[in-house]
Amino acid sequence: MSDAPFPYGRIHNFSAGPAVLPLSVVEELREQLPNFAGMGVGVMELSHRSKPFLKLMKGAQGRIRRLLNLSDEHTVLFLQGGASLQFLMVAMNLLQGGTADYIDTGVWANKAIKEAKRYGTVVVPFSGKAENYRQVPRDWARTPGAVYTHITTNNTIYGTQLHGLPESEGLLVADMSSDILSREFDTSKIDVIYAGAQKNLGPSGLTVVTLSPRAMARAALSDAPTMLNYKVHADDADQLYNTPNTFGVLALDRVLNWIETQGLQTVGETNRRKAQKIYDLLDSSDFWRPHAAQDSRSDMNITWRLKDEALEPVFVKEATEAGLDGLKGHRSVGGLRASIYNACPEQSVDALVAFMQEFERVRG
Ligand SMILES: Cc1ncc(COP(=O)(O)O)c(C=O)c1O
Repeated sequence: MSDAPFPYGRIHNFSAGPAVLPLSVVEELREQLPNFAGMGVGVMELSHRSKPFLKLMKGAQGRIRRLLNLSDEHTVLFLQGGASLQFLMVAMNLLQGGTADYIDTGVWANKAIKEAKRYGTVVVPFSGKAENYRQVPRDWARTPGAVYTHITTNNTIYGTQLHGLPESEGLLVADMSSDILSREFDTSKIDVIYAGAQKNLGPSGLTVVTLSPRAMARAALSDAPTMLNYKVHADDADQLYNTPNTFGVLALDRVLNWIETQGLQTVGETNRRKAQKIYDLLDSSDFWRPHAAQDSRSDMNITWRLKDEALEPVFVKEATEAGLDGLKGHRSVGGLRASIYNACPEQSVDALVAFMQEFERVRG
């Protein structure tokens, strides 16, 4: 184990995903790769039906339940195909020709809407499109009889985040890919949670999906094909209908352990403090133009433009040269984006803030 914060030539990584993992977890995985749990083979070389792997699986499911405040009756699945496959699976399993409300908070919500339209009627009670998604709603009108409402809790591209959950009569479905387990949040209210692991939970190739008993009851009525059917996955004795990403499950378990060791409250407070350092600077002069509306700001992805947009590529180039990587904004917003998920060290945020202060001093 290394004590230095950035050994192995690691740099300040602001990638939107796959994103930085806790260094201690990367080192732990490296240790365990050749020989998992004293089996004499690594986790990538071991049957997913073996006892040690099943123990790992159960342990990781338990951690998800504890951290998300879900009951033992909730189903926890580790699937593949990313959050993008969940856009389809949610609608295929739950909609069944009914109506669903979809909150349009950007690109990812729209991809989910596109899939849902294949299986029923989509109503969009809120769309942030007219303002290039700088705002998320606090509340919205419910469509009577809607089977579910679909929300995206954090909008990776625009740097916006929901800061509360309105009551929902039907099921509540949340794409939490870019802010799962980043703060204390009332996840027990959410019937279906899904998240690609590659931002806050581990490597890509693993998707965490949780379903409440009432969501599962609805899904049980669907005739979705085998691999796309939640009930098929849930009904397997170990929720392993097919071979999962075994390495991904180990990495997930170690990241969850890292979160549990700190406690979600501390993780949330650290994330808030990290984000506020950048927002304070962005608000300090009109050299910077933050994208998200004040009340919609995300603690995970911070998006901004420069007053002089011609300086944006210069910023990215000089930042990269200074060892600050992944800051180019998504093309739908342009400008800059700093993704500062759970595992982004506070030292990286401090280095970014210092770089920005110097950039403004020289160019402002
Ligand atoms: C909020 C959100 N949803 C869905 C996706 C798509 O995830 P995946 O690439 O795992 O399909 C992303 C990817 O960045 C995302 O940020």
